[in-house]
Amino acid sequence: MHAATSGRGARSSDHTTAATAGHQVACRRMSTSWTDQVLRGFGQAATRYESLAVLQRSVAQRLAGLCARSPIPQGLWVDLGSGTGLLADALEARHPGQPVLRIDGSAEMLKLHPKKAVTALVDLNNGLPEWSADPMLLASSFTLHWLPAPHEVLRRWFDCLGPDGWLALTVPVAGSFPQWRMAAEIAQVPCTALRFPEAHALIQELPATAVQHQVILKLSQRADHPIRLLKPISAIGAGSTPAPSLNPAAWRRLCRAWPKPSEKDTVTLTWHVLLLLLKR
Ligand SMILES: C[S@@+](CC[C@H](N)C(=O)[O-])C[C@H]1O[C@@H](n2cnc3c(N)ncnc32)[C@H](O)[C@@H]1O
Repeated sequence: MHAATSGRGARSSDHTTAATAGHQVACRRMSTSWTDQVLRGFGQAATRYESLAVLQRSVAQRLAGLCARSPIPQGLWVDLGSGTGLLADALEARHPGQPVLRIDGSAEMLKLHPKKAVTALVDLNNGLPEWSADPMLLASSFTLHWLPAPHEVLRRWFDCLGPDGWLALTVPVAGSFPQWRMAAEIAQVPCTALRFPEAHALIQELPATAVQHQVILKLSQRADHPIRLLKPISAIGAGSTPAPSLNPAAWRRLCRAWPKPSEKDTVTLTWHVLLLLLKR
């Protein structure tokens, strides 16, 4: 089942001044072209996503495990930016009889869900859809960082929860990819990695009493060459970045400057992933 839905978050104020309105139009245009680029990237990679998204799969399993150990009430459970459904599937497997609504902005990703799954095509930049009941669980894994102003979005998601509702989140945060940034500095080329939100900026928007669990996972991937660490990022559709791309010579300089740890012939890329569980 599959429905296109409009959002409830993006209403303009009656008192908007002409200057602010102009700024909003400019921001919306920028955010629309960025969103198009991001969703196009994921759409093109949809069919190979599951076989390559090893890190995302293991983090989704971990988040679902944490949810299973928490007293989350039954009701409307939603996976925001579900992709092919790694998190929604992991949640449903641990909670028989509790369906998870799968929301994504990419129709190609949603086509890959099982027939019985309920999906909705939604651009999360337009806010969350109107539902007849407030959600008891809003879950999201590896999606928030693709949305402009993630800390504001997270606060809005939290405010949409029903009383006693929960929010379960994973998101890569600042501090990720120290090896990539170091190599770029040594090679004197721009670091074109996507900028991730600061964990503390995300959390400070939320009431302190809401935080039930908070940890930054440091997850390292290893390969015999930096290209084999970076290629999978674009192969799963996550290669979009506002930074201009490097020319081949700059890529070669970057790879030569990649730090070599003590293990011979192995290079590393480390993700910092915030895992957060909130209760309304
Ligand atoms: C890295 S994938 C994560 C998918 C899944 N949550 C997982 O853990 O495997 C990011 C997902 O966010 C979706 N996405 C990005 N921007 C979006 C937007 N503005 N609205 C809705 N979905 C969006 C993409 O289509 C993609 O499926």
